[in-house]
Amino acid sequence: MTPYYQSKAVTVYKGDCRAGLREIAPASVALLLTDPPYGINVESDQFADAATDWDKGDQTELIDAMLAEARPKMKPNGAFYVFGHPGQFMNARAQYTRAGFMPLQELVWVKSADGRLPNQSRVNKQHAEALRTYFPETERILFGEVMATGRTEEKDAERAWHLREEKEHDAKMRPLVEYFKAELAKTTLTVADVCRLMKARTGKGPICGHYFSGHQFVLPTEEMYGHLRAILNANLKPGVVACQTRDFAALGREYASLKAEYQGLKGEWQELRDQWEALRRPHFAQPRTKSDVLRYDVVPIAARCGHPCEKPVDLLADLIKTSTRPGDLVCDCFAGSGATGIAAKVTGRRAVLIEQEESYCQMIRRRLENDTPLFDFAEGNQ
Ligand SMILES: C[S@@+](CC[C@H](N)C(=O)[O-])C[C@H]1O[C@@H](n2cnc3c(N)ncnc32)[C@H](O)[C@@H]1O
Repeated sequence: MTPYYQSKAVTVYKGDCRAGLREIAPASVALLLTDPPYGINVESDQFADAATDWDKGDQTELIDAMLAEARPKMKPNGAFYVFGHPGQFMNARAQYTRAGFMPLQELVWVKSADGRLPNQSRVNKQHAEALRTYFPETERILFGEVMATGRTEEKDAERAWHLREEKEHDAKMRPLVEYFKAELAKTTLTVADVCRLMKARTGKGPICGHYFSGHQFVLPTEEMYGHLRAILNANLKPGVVACQTRDFAALGREYASLKAEYQGLKGEWQELRDQWEALRRPHFAQPRTKSDVLRYDVVPIAARCGHPCEKPVDLLADLIKTSTRPGDLVCDCFAGSGATGIAAKVTGRRAVLIEQEESYCQMIRRRLENDTPLFDFAEGNQ
């Protein structure tokens, strides 16, 4: 299939999603971000007025076929977001899982940034019969990750790194953990006692458990270490002499040497950690994607480009930034107005878009050529 449009960041294929997906290189897509026809007249009359021809009828077979074509194109640490209307994914989880896409969460898109409900007048116009179910003020986005189908080199590598990373962290931090445990053993306190006393003294309790733990060890800050020493020294077993004086200068020197040792050890471990991070599915929560409720305005009527289901670019851009790294490839195989392509372009990612309708392909080309500045790496926008 010859691309309908191609630029440095975005390739567009005009045609059926199944054929378009065959053009993509295996294991190259970091994120499948798409918004298929909802088949909404099947589910409910409430949506029937919004349905266009391609939106009508049961879409199960189309989605099955799309997932089957898309799966081999996904990177082993890839993610997916699929838009749908409320209720749509209740029975679809098995469909995704069978195809090798593991649903993790159903996100709720509340279609106004300030949480006000935008459709009150439409709600009020509903027929009483239609109101026997709840008027949908939200859309759902099924979020998940690629499932390993059997063993792959990348998945094996990721698992191996993870285990090694955890083990190495614990091994490297052991001398420091031993130091803290030995200090605790000189007192009449348990770890729980220390956490309680630290909480009373500083307002911060649970973190103290990590000072004595071989797993997930954390070095206290200098201030917290000062409090810890005071607590330990005040609770020494009979006959034990406080090894750290309460003299602040002595404490400071002691802390500096601990910190130097910690930083050295952490540096060695960090290299491993970085390698593991590069292998596992990225997730960089953005200020507005921290929870499963996403509040973004719908595209205002005056700003729409003529597609009935146009999604807001800021929402798509935040999903892309959350689940990919700069330069990654994003695929939208039901591209519509091309909003995913715009979002990929402005965030410094690449995109493959597939859309079957000529008029929408023209719309995508117009948007990509005219409206969208290429991502400026100098401004640093992850
Ligand atoms: C819900 S809309 C996507 C809207 C898009 N997210 C946007 O922001 O503009 C679904 C799109 O999929 C297209 N479509 C439907 N069936 C298709 C198929 N089999 N292959 C490719 N595109 C298809 C429709 O033409 C429609 O533009």
